[in-house]
Amino acid sequence: MSTIILAIESSCDETAVAILHHHQNNVTVLASEISSQIDIHREFGGVVPELASRNHSLHLRPLIEMALANAELKIDAIDAFAATAGPGLASSLLVGNTTAKSLAVATGKPFISVNHMEGHLLSPFIDQPDLRSNLALIVSGGHTLLIHMKNFGDYELLGSTRDDAAGEAYDKVGKMLGLPYPGGPEIEKQAHNGSPTAYDFPRSMIKDGLDFSFSGLKTAVLYQLEKINPTDGSAPQEAIPDLCASFQQAVIDILVAKTLRATEHCGETLISLSGGVSCNQALRTSMQQACLQNNLELLIARPSLSTDNAAMIGFVAIHSHLRGHHSSLHQDINPNLRLVQH
Ligand code: KG4
Ligand code: ZN
Repeated sequence: MSTIILAIESSCDETAVAILHHHQNNVTVLASEISSQIDIHREFGGVVPELASRNHSLHLRPLIEMALANAELKIDAIDAFAATAGPGLASSLLVGNTTAKSLAVATGKPFISVNHMEGHLLSPFIDQPDLRSNLALIVSGGHTLLIHMKNFGDYELLGSTRDDAAGEAYDKVGKMLGLPYPGGPEIEKQAHNGSPTAYDFPRSMIKDGLDFSFSGLKTAVLYQLEKINPTDGSAPQEAIPDLCASFQQAVIDILVAKTLRATEHCGETLISLSGGVSCNQALRTSMQQACLQNNLELLIARPSLSTDNAAMIGFVAIHSHLRGHHSSLHQDINPNLRLVQH
């Protein structure tokens, strides 16, 4: 049996459309188009919801046409239409969700509502022959989750953040240092020229349990800045690389330590790493080294599938479709949608 799915992602500031083909147990991404709004939101230092939804609605139709052209398909070849239902910005989610529902109605095909976090969770498996049980670390702008993934749809939450998400900490520290939005990639760039041991920032809760806390680390960077520059607490250019490298090292130490502890807790020997922060090369290298030392296997989504994209939404939709799970057209979006109950 062969299935072709068109998926839309519009939960935040990326408008994305993908077309995936499932055939004989193989999934092929036929097209994955992304229009990023980062440049639009950068001048405001963060995502402006109203601007995001207006730009989703401007870009979605051309992206759908581009995806169909790149996949060399006509719309009637699509077997189901999927869209992100949450978590995310309500007005942004509505654009993608309503578009996918409309296409489903117009073509008489099913609609599939997808949880954005399940998209991240499964993204490391898009290039793999099968899903496998694993311990997953999802590090995105809004979430830091440790999940024991036993099977498709069978997820146990082992740990999450009590305050800021890892990506959020990167973005807030980036802002404090006067770096452009989003802070993650900028801090990584600056960290290349700095020393990770220049400042001894706290590794909050590193020895306790499986939950995370990043707000103390963020405050420690703020206090350090006030010490370096008591006049207005702004960051002198020459201090930025060391501050970035030391902050990043603290984040990585926490993420690696908690992930290893979680594998001991659930007995899995495969770790999967996903979400925007998993683009970070220093995190990838540290996690890889920790896995080698502990006889663990590591699976990381390709960088283009780590940040928000629609291929990961289509991948979840294929697994739902294969199990006959379709969604009602009455299914609402949910800005606070959870993958597992906290
Ligand atoms: O998964 P994602 O694209 O969107 C959400 O679902 O939130 O993640 C975005 C987050 C942002 O906080 C961004 O700063 C962070 O991922 N990020 C990075 C890097 N690239 C993106 N953080 C650290 N290093 C990076 N290279
Ligand atoms: Zn995301």
